[in-house]
Amino acid sequence: MATLTNDLRVWLDKSRERITAVTLEPRLDQIGRVAQVGDGVATVTGLPGTRLDELLIFDGGVRGLAVDLDERIIGCVLLDSDAGIAAGSPVHGTGEVARTPIGAELLGRVVDPLGMPLDGGAAVVTENYSPVEQPAPAIVDRALVTHPLATGLLVVDAMIPLGRGQRELIIGDRGTGKTAIAVDTMINQRSSDVICIYAGVGQKASSIAQVIDAVRHYGAPERCCFVIGEADAPPGLQWLTPYSACTIAEHFMAQGRDTLLVIDDLTKHAAAYRQVSLLLRRPPGREAYPGDIFYIHSRLLERAAKLGPERGGGSLTALPIAETQAGNISAYIPTNLISITDGQIYLDPRLFYEDQKPAVDVGKSISRVGGKTQAPVLQALSESLRLEYAQFLELEVFTRFGTMVDERTRKIIEHGRRIRAVLRQPQFAPLALGEQVALLFAVSKGVLDDLPLDRVDDYRAALHEWLAERCSEALALDDQAAAMAPELEERLVAVLIALARSLGSQPMSAQA
Ligand SMILES: Nc1ncnc2c1ncn2[C@@H]1O[C@H](COP(=O)(O)OP(=O)(O)OP(=O)(O)O)[C@@H](O)[C@H]1O
Ligand SMILES: [Mg+2]
Repeated sequence: MATLTNDLRVWLDKSRERITAVTLEPRLDQIGRVAQVGDGVATVTGLPGTRLDELLIFDGGVRGLAVDLDERIIGCVLLDSDAGIAAGSPVHGTGEVARTPIGAELLGRVVDPLGMPLDGGAAVVTENYSPVEQPAPAIVDRALVTHPLATGLLVVDAMIPLGRGQRELIIGDRGTGKTAIAVDTMINQRSSDVICIYAGVGQKASSIAQVIDAVRHYGAPERCCFVIGEADAPPGLQWLTPYSACTIAEHFMAQGRDTLLVIDDLTKHAAAYRQVSLLLRRPPGREAYPGDIFYIHSRLLERAAKLGPERGGGSLTALPIAETQAGNISAYIPTNLISITDGQIYLDPRLFYEDQKPAVDVGKSISRVGGKTQAPVLQALSESLRLEYAQFLELEVFTRFGTMVDERTRKIIEHGRRIRAVLRQPQFAPLALGEQVALLFAVSKGVLDDLPLDRVDDYRAALHEWLAERCSEALALDDQAAAMAPELEERLVAVLIALARSLGSQPMSAQA
């Protein structure tokens, strides 16, 4: 009994000490009220101190972003489901703008725009957080784009080369292989040191799963991060996704790394933004988009840059994707994006249905920056290729109608068909620079002209192994290599001819 009283006394003394140690201070907490809620937006009253883009917390921990500041009313985009919020329920300001975790911990992960894991893994714990909206690097901090970003797709690397720090739009109708080009580019970075960030905006969960699977299977997932605002996520979250992904990429760029940001896609991003804007009763403009629709995309894509050496020399290459309706590239959002970016890769549904994949329309595609960065050895070969190909496409139209053609024209057409066949490429099989050079070399030297057209795919498939055994120097070419030595050229031609012979004369031994 005595010990119990003693224990009680000790406990009382300790508690008293603890209570006196607590300093009681008045705290000012601003609590607002929900005026209206629904369809992913809410209006809030009673929070006069709110900042633009401030994160607000609703009942049940639902997050929202203050995007319209009025004298009395705040327009708010919700970042979680609005179920459970009712008019009159309390809202707390956080005093902070929307932020995302940044750092190497994000590599290999799938997260939402605020860094919540979507891959079933542990919470992402990083040292630093950064606001999702950032100013673009200043002009003085930028440098010229000088290094190529290899996509591994021959048609792009040869005809529409990309540079690190460039913005290139991938544009085309539904299901023409836009995502496939971006994914192949990400996969090809397994043989470089580029960090890839994929922003999935408004995509079906199944499409996103396919992208992630492909990169995990064929690429270097430990250098990739997926930031996802899928189709059934609240529109506010979809809208935030590309900004957040850009912030994550910028962190690596600031460390001097080369990064690639794929935004799939900005048409759906614009639609999500239009949805929240209309619900917030902003005045609609052309095609019902709000007046600042150009600005939301330009301020995002301006953040792509090649930094100067005094800023670490990192780069952020942006590959935004845009969807067109029936090939109409002069619609509102596509024209906006074409004018913001440094060029576009245009995918033609007609080519896609003719099984010419990747369905890149070389005539309508352009890269305004990357040409100067192209590997010199590739540049020398691709110059003539473009011309020959354009000439062939013109001539081919005539022969469609069964016109008789002379021998010279027939040869040009046969040669052109070989070029087209060489530009075809399956998914998930990026070509190394050496293979690309060898293929273009084979075309330009006419090695393929006597090969049956349907064997060109086998030729491409067998090339790597064939070269590895017989001319490994050609495979070892890198993007600094100037023209090939004449001796190597000679040997390469001989090896390429031998491969063509083996495929032409003994078709069954193609893979041997
Ligand atoms: N080079 C290729 N070789 C073979 N198949 C391809 C190639 N590129 C794309 N495909 C196939 O074409 C289909 C459409 O590709 P993808 O999903 O990339 O198109 P998309 O334009 O992104 O479509 P969406 O508009 O639905 O986003 C896919 O089934 C894909 O596997
Ligand atoms: Mg797609």
